[in-house]
Amino acid sequence: MIGILSLLLILPCVFVNGYLITNDVEYISKLPPPCSSEIYCHGRLLETIQLAHIYADSKTFVDMKLKQSPAKTLEIFDEFLSKNPDPSTEDLKKWVESNFEEPGSEFENWKPDDFTKNPAVLDKISDKSFRSFAYDLNGIWNDLGRKIKKEVHENEELYSIIYVENPMIVPGGRFREFYYWDSYWVLRGLLLSEMTHTAKGMLENFFSIVLRFGFIPNGGRIYYSMRSQPPLLTPMVKTYVDHTKDFEFAVKAVDVLALEFDYWMSNHTVMVKGHKMAVYGDKSSGPRPESYREDIETANGFTTDEDKEEHYSELKAAAESGMDFSSRWFVDAEGGNNGTLANLKTRSIVPVELNAILHWNAKIIAEFYGYAGNITKQTEYLEIAKQILDAVNEVLWDEETGAWLDYDLINQKNRPFFVPTNLAPLWMRCYDVTKREHIASKVMKYINNTRLDDYPGGVPTTLVKSGEQWDWPNVWAPLQHMLIVGLDNLGTKESKEKAQDWAQRWVLSNYLAYKESGHMFEKYMATELGGHGGGGEYEVQTGFGWTNGVILDLLDHYGNVLSSSGSNLNYLKH
Ligand SMILES: *[C@@H]1O[C@H](CO)[C@@H](O)[C@H](O)[C@H]1NC(C)=O
Ligand SMILES: *[C@@H]1O[C@H](CO)[C@@H](O)[C@H](O)[C@H]1NC(C)=O
Ligand SMILES: *[C@@H]1O[C@H](CO)[C@@H](O)[C@H](O)[C@H]1NC(C)=O
Ligand SMILES: *[C@@H]1O[C@H](CO)[C@@H](O)[C@H](O)[C@H]1NC(C)=O
Repeated sequence: MIGILSLLLILPCVFVNGYLITNDVEYISKLPPPCSSEIYCHGRLLETIQLAHIYADSKTFVDMKLKQSPAKTLEIFDEFLSKNPDPSTEDLKKWVESNFEEPGSEFENWKPDDFTKNPAVLDKISDKSFRSFAYDLNGIWNDLGRKIKKEVHENEELYSIIYVENPMIVPGGRFREFYYWDSYWVLRGLLLSEMTHTAKGMLENFFSIVLRFGFIPNGGRIYYSMRSQPPLLTPMVKTYVDHTKDFEFAVKAVDVLALEFDYWMSNHTVMVKGHKMAVYGDKSSGPRPESYREDIETANGFTTDEDKEEHYSELKAAAESGMDFSSRWFVDAEGGNNGTLANLKTRSIVPVELNAILHWNAKIIAEFYGYAGNITKQTEYLEIAKQILDAVNEVLWDEETGAWLDYDLINQKNRPFFVPTNLAPLWMRCYDVTKREHIASKVMKYINNTRLDDYPGGVPTTLVKSGEQWDWPNVWAPLQHMLIVGLDNLGTKESKEKAQDWAQRWVLSNYLAYKESGHMFEKYMATELGGHGGGGEYEVQTGFGWTNGVILDLLDHYGNVLSSSGSNLNYLKH
């Protein structure tokens, strides 16, 4: 904590917009809980049930529906405790079962009305096994569709779900609700599956959520309502508009997109070397309700209440990044990335992809204002896009490394560690395009020097084996997609070949795992072609929304060249 305090003293240029980067006890005591619900977000009932460890997964309890009003339930709970001051786990389990319903009771049976068995994308796939793989993936949307019951809208206090009108596609497994950044890759898949109506409904849900919350929560539960995730709504709308040519939709959406963008720029930024740059954060107090016991346990390593609160904020900020958890967010005493969750310093790291994504947002918003004929706003957002690009270039690009590097605000230096997001700016072309050739040659050297082709199952998330799920050897679909699209966009012969190689490796790996297990996974393993990942705070999940979206997208782009025999895997020949 001393590091952060001295940072505030020594570095007046690093200001913090309402963020808890302070040991100010009074400020901490004023932070609200993750939501106001005394059942789902804070209070004695939540704490008692979660610490009793009734369910293997802490998320189970906070997804259960109340049988009676919150007030009545709290009253019954008080009575129960006064009669039974030291309840056993078994007693508590019985109490929960008699007062709550099973998770999932907020949804009605629903199959997408725009589902089609043979979307045209299948015809683009030459390899027969891959075509049948894509056919199966297309069919999985039916299992991942959810529609919230109307009665939830009328009785919201009985549920933790955030009500939205239109049906949606969820990731799967324990992730029963929408997730923000997942939806970008889900939506790309849906459009290729010709489920345009479902995709549009999901976007409209997000617009209503921005109007209600001012931003998009991490996922569709009230306990996520004080943190967001990488802001990909605007790129989702761009994908939709590119696909449908519905420019009117872009014009209608643009003010809401600008509202979300402004939230990030005014509530999530710090000044670094004269540039306004975004960081991940969270402004609530206490542990994450859905991982309550886990958070209390890691906080036990801290002695004061203030330090525990700081730790909760770091955990929640890492959750906002989508990469929960990872050595990427560990800052040790030497400014390295060794440590445990106790070393999380997410709020003090300026992340490459977040700033590049915001550049992308500003560019797209400018384009949409252009469709609206609003030249004033178009010019304004182009200027903001330029400012963010300059910041990414000046603060994050590291010429010697040949990549963009996260910036550590505590030690005032770039972090040299490998993360696929170090190449994220290639994805949305957040660089000076006149220097494209130069950047391409640097980046290809970086890929070689970092030996990213040494792994049969894909580019690992980091090179650190911490046991966290966003670390070595796990490989995640969105990061593979980000790399592949980025290298393809870079547009040199070498970078396009690399992109194709990695697409081949990734699709084959997912295919082999699917053939062996019948499942699509949340994460895979770099060390084995077809191996699926583990680690982290919950069981391996299957489904899986963004994984399926990425495969459909890669088969759409590379369907005529990819092979299920892997005979064209160039990297194996090196
Ligand atoms: C953004 O920050 C401002 C000022 O700190 C605050 O009033 C506002 O509520 C915040 N917006 C959201 C959506 O949290
Ligand atoms: C800390 O991390 C660095 C870089 O990841 C590594 O080289 C070093 O051996 C680590 N030190 C310890 C004590 O683990
Ligand atoms: C441009 O958009 C802004 C924000 O919606 C609006 O206030 C303004 O009136 C618009 N200007 C024109 C010329 O449409
Ligand atoms: C690739 O990296 C290896 C070391 O890992 C090095 O020997 C080789 O010269 C590099 N090749 C290029 C083209 O940079």
